[in-house]
Amino acid sequence: MVEKRQSGLMDKIVALCKRRGFIFQSSEIYGGINGFWDYGPAGAELKRNIKDAWWNDVVRSRTDVVGIDGTIITHPRVWEASGHIESFTDPMVDCKKCKGRWRADQLPDTKCPEGGPHDYTEARKFNLMFKTNVGPVEDTSSVAYLRPETAQVIFVQFQNVLSVARQKVPFGIAQIGKAFRNEINPRNFTFRSREFEQMELEFFVKPGADAQWHEYWVKERLKWYETIGLPAAKLSCYNYKKEELAHYASACVDVMFEFPFGVQELEGIAARGDFDLSQHQKFSGKSMEYFDDETKEKFIPHVVEPSAGVDRIALALLCAAYAEETITGENGKTETRVVMRFAPRIAPVKVAVFPLLRNKPLLIEKAKEVFKLLQPHFTTEWDDRGNIGKRYRYQDEQGTPWCVTVDFETLGEKGPELKDTVTLRDRDTMKQERIKIADLVPLISHKLHG
Ligand code: GAP
Repeated sequence: MVEKRQSGLMDKIVALCKRRGFIFQSSEIYGGINGFWDYGPAGAELKRNIKDAWWNDVVRSRTDVVGIDGTIITHPRVWEASGHIESFTDPMVDCKKCKGRWRADQLPDTKCPEGGPHDYTEARKFNLMFKTNVGPVEDTSSVAYLRPETAQVIFVQFQNVLSVARQKVPFGIAQIGKAFRNEINPRNFTFRSREFEQMELEFFVKPGADAQWHEYWVKERLKWYETIGLPAAKLSCYNYKKEELAHYASACVDVMFEFPFGVQELEGIAARGDFDLSQHQKFSGKSMEYFDDETKEKFIPHVVEPSAGVDRIALALLCAAYAEETITGENGKTETRVVMRFAPRIAPVKVAVFPLLRNKPLLIEKAKEVFKLLQPHFTTEWDDRGNIGKRYRYQDEQGTPWCVTVDFETLGEKGPELKDTVTLRDRDTMKQERIKIADLVPLISHKLHG
């Protein structure tokens, strides 16, 4: 029963994402392409807000983290050193009759379309990295890969960044960017995609300080999710058991979120020892050592890696924000209001400006003035289509926290005391207050930033 209700909820969220321009199927007019998604106007703003919040909190407001912006295609040896060529694989089996291909642990329980049961091959390794060729010749010497994670680019640039960043261990290098995985089974809307964005921090520490910094980053990252509006009650941590850890890792915690399709990972926070830097030292022949001026010691730093997915966070925010309420509409009838209760910090549009009527030039002129006043300060949207009630519903579904309406009172037609005032309507309470135009920017700023 719960399953059914929850899958119904997911269908509603997917429909809203299309209806309000959050997420569209990639190449929809050609029938779509599995595992790829495009973000529409509201989704692009939402994603940007997530990335800005992360960059601001993990990089700009700290003194011990710097950022980089590296390439998607790197020297292919990077992926030999990292172990991705050898082991970034899923075991796959094929049906010899119908040529279907599945993950060995996810075989279908249906019959073979060619008749009888499927006739499976032995399991074979399937590498999840997308391959391409660099330059005009397509042979083995030109093979390159689209990065399956952003992390390796950070390790590869460790010495260059260290030489310019005026940082001492412990310090971090952060990056936001696209990653690509040829996932066998993309699913749950954008949750498992083939093209996605990661926000990764490699925080370099002295050997032995791993546990302390790992604990620190798990706490920091959990707190961060609450600052962007994910409710604590839907967040949890999964602690890897010793036998589940990679051979080089000393600890790993996944930050989990309760999606309508189950509790799933948003971010992994791993203590990876010196594995990555040591591997790149070995494969490149270049030193990855760090010299500590104070203790005069040389060592390869250990790393703690909080690694999050922008698209999964966007999906978690969409799921957490979605709410349906029964309200009494303007005509006195009960109706369902769909409202996206995003934290204002993360909402795609902060304020929408409406002229009460679109065919009254004086109203339009005044509303344009108000729009121009707000636009430099907040992501602002202009809307003059349909009646005011419909515009509120549209903005509620987009999660816009505040709507400003310019009406005849604003023009002074209902008395001089109301001239140059507007209504400010709150998304969550639906209450409207009369505000002086001159007070709008400080008031909304206060509501937004506290
Ligand atoms: N450098 C470590 C690393 O890449 P990961 O657990 O494979 O670790 C980190 O990926 C995060 O990237 C995940 O927690 C998730 O948020 C996101 N991610 C991974 N694969 C994804 C996919 N196929 N679709 C969307 N997001 C994905």
